[in-house]
Amino acid sequence: MARYNVTFEPAGVTVQVDPAEYPYGHHGRPGSLLDIALAHGVPIEHTCGGVGACSTCHVIVESGWENLSEAADEELDRVELAPGNTVRSRLACQAVVGGDVTVRVPDWNRNAAKESE
Ligand code: FES
Repeated sequence: MARYNVTFEPAGVTVQVDPAEYPYGHHGRPGSLLDIALAHGVPIEHTCGGVGACSTCHVIVESGWENLSEAADEELDRVELAPGNTVRSRLACQAVVGGDVTVRVPDWNRNAAKESE
């Protein structure tokens, strides 16, 4: 089966994922950006535990938008509440990876993650 490269900026961490191994952990939808990030040591805040209820896992998609699962109305409503929301914003816990993708984790999110370590 195909493998995908998932890059998290600005850390510059690229991980190769195999959809046959989804889920990696217990946070977010199986194969979501959050699932992949946490399983590979990339911290992304996830206050609600990955159920799409908080928007703290907000990321900005730099490339590969078409390789993510389509956002449900509930996700679109929630991500609008995220600080720094853009037209390329997704909730990492809800966006399932189906191809190569690069996302940027906002500054405030990384800082929050560091403080909780
Ligand atoms: S972790 Fe709460 S919305 Fe994604």
